[in-house]
Amino acid sequence: MCSGRISELLIFKAFTSGADGVLVAGCHPGDCHYMKGNLSARRRVVGIKPFLEAIGVEPERLRLEWIGASEGPKFAETVKSFTQTIKELGPSPLNRRRNGH
Ligand code: FES
Repeated sequence: MCSGRISELLIFKAFTSGADGVLVAGCHPGDCHYMKGNLSARRRVVGIKPFLEAIGVEPERLRLEWIGASEGPKFAETVKSFTQTIKELGPSPLNRRRNGH
């Protein structure tokens, strides 16, 4: 319902469950229906990036974007761009290790 629900643990769990990338999309600052959920999401995303780097996961694999519910074209463009970034990076180092590469 709100990007404020995102925790560092959920992000980490996505990566350890096989995700090559994680896109967190929240309402624009000032537009969160739960007041400041998106600002909490931003703080958590920024906060976990050094940890991801420390375990070998490139920070580009985690992206935070502000996308309003009425911004379908922006959502589509963001997903397309993020997918391209992840394709260029290849499988997550966590998945490479899991698959024996
Ligand atoms: S309702 Fe909180 S980020 Fe959208």
